[in-house]
Amino acid sequence: MSWRRGRPLSLTLRVALLLAAVSVASFLAVGAYLYHTLQRQMSSRDDVELIVKADQVRHLIAGMPSAEAVRREAHALKDTLYGHNDFMLRVNAADGKPLLQTAVTSRPLPQVDSVPAQRALTLDDIHDWQPASGVGRMVRATGQAGADPVQVTLARERSDRLQVLRVYAGDLLLALGGGALLATLLGYVIVHRSMRQLRSVVAKANDISTSRMNTRLSVQDAPVELRELGAAFNAMLNRLEDGVQRLSGFAADLAHDMRTPLNTLMMETQVALSRARTVEEYQALLASNFEEYERLSRMIDNTLFLARVDNAQLALKREPLDLQAELQRIHDYFEFLADDAGVRLGVEAEPLRASIDPVLLQRAVSNLMANALAHTPAGGAVTLSARQGEEGVEIAVANSGPGIDPAHLPHIFDRYYRADQARSAGAGLGLSIVRAIMELHGGNISVASQPGLTTFSLRFKKI
Ligand SMILES: Nc1ncnc2c1ncn2[C@@H]1O[C@H](COP(=O)(O)OP(=O)(O)OP(=O)(O)O)[C@@H](O)[C@H]1O
Ligand SMILES: [Mg+2]
Repeated sequence: MSWRRGRPLSLTLRVALLLAAVSVASFLAVGAYLYHTLQRQMSSRDDVELIVKADQVRHLIAGMPSAEAVRREAHALKDTLYGHNDFMLRVNAADGKPLLQTAVTSRPLPQVDSVPAQRALTLDDIHDWQPASGVGRMVRATGQAGADPVQVTLARERSDRLQVLRVYAGDLLLALGGGALLATLLGYVIVHRSMRQLRSVVAKANDISTSRMNTRLSVQDAPVELRELGAAFNAMLNRLEDGVQRLSGFAADLAHDMRTPLNTLMMETQVALSRARTVEEYQALLASNFEEYERLSRMIDNTLFLARVDNAQLALKREPLDLQAELQRIHDYFEFLADDAGVRLGVEAEPLRASIDPVLLQRAVSNLMANALAHTPAGGAVTLSARQGEEGVEIAVANSGPGIDPAHLPHIFDRYYRADQARSAGAGLGLSIVRAIMELHGGNISVASQPGLTTFSLRFKKI
């Protein structure tokens, strides 16, 4: 079973382990470098020492009259090695007879060439040899005692040097282990501390509910890496809060607007039932109720339409339309209403074609027409027009009348906003539906109003 199948490692532990691996690798590299440098330095210093001692011995021998004198003056030669127990000095006469021997080597020395008496010793004259433990170094040179040549052999066992190196390597490894452990622990503590900010994000996120959506993360003092996350989180909260607020406002407005016609219905019915009525009275009541039912039904229909637009459930079905014909149809539909209200209704349309959803176009223009008729006093005029604009077709509904108070203008496209509650019997949804339809088409709606003339313009982009 590998740990991958279980819970994944925490980020803190991962970073700490990574730090440990990195520090072990770098400690190992530095340790190996230090070890080899020391080893190289020790062996070259040992070789130099061997040459110096051999030269010293040759020099002393050169001051002696004969090979026999070497035997007599042995103590002077031995003194040169004072304090160096790992050295072995042997001097032989030309016939091989030993003249001096300080110690016996653990293994016999190999036969190597002797450096001639006149030549100075160099590092190249030093040879390896194999003692019982470790490695040894040796040099063999000819010395001149008066007229007698003698052979000087100086050898050294380096087992104590190797012992020093071994201890050094052990110490290095110990330091490496300790360093890696320290790096891991420190890494863990540091990462754990840095994660505090992340944990505060989690705590804040846990603290948020639909009734408490005003909590935001403080991004200023967060580290750069978390700042982006915090900003995205806050932006998401803004959108959510906006959505929740709109939804609850929507529900409250809807409930409020439905209550009015429902209260009217209940009251009228109650009054009617309080005593016996004539058939005519009942008929009048039902007719009045019918108006309220219609209003309720329109309100629910409009609300549902906007909800579908909000949820992007409404698919646009564009068709190439003859705008002149479309506007004429709408004109004909509203003609009777206009006549009733004593309002002149006119169409001014160029022969135009555009790709627009016919059902939605009819709904948008009808909403504008209904508003225009409702706000045009008897004797006024409503004009429906279409023309080719710079970016696409432009449809306008203009009406005479007092116009819209500039204070109301910025709000009339808001849902449930009614400028003068007395005149408008609607719910204040008509214009927000027109705007939603224009947004669906990638177009826009604008209004220009002054006393005497109010014009709503729909601009459709060319596609
Ligand atoms: N042509 C207009 N002249 C004067 N005021 C207007 C005109 N069109 C709209 N308004 C004002 O803008 C407000 C918002 O219009 P909107 O169509 O959204 O709602 P409504 O007509 O009141 O209700 P609904 O359309 O939902 O039945 C209206 O209440 C009205 O005061
Ligand atoms: Mg309206």
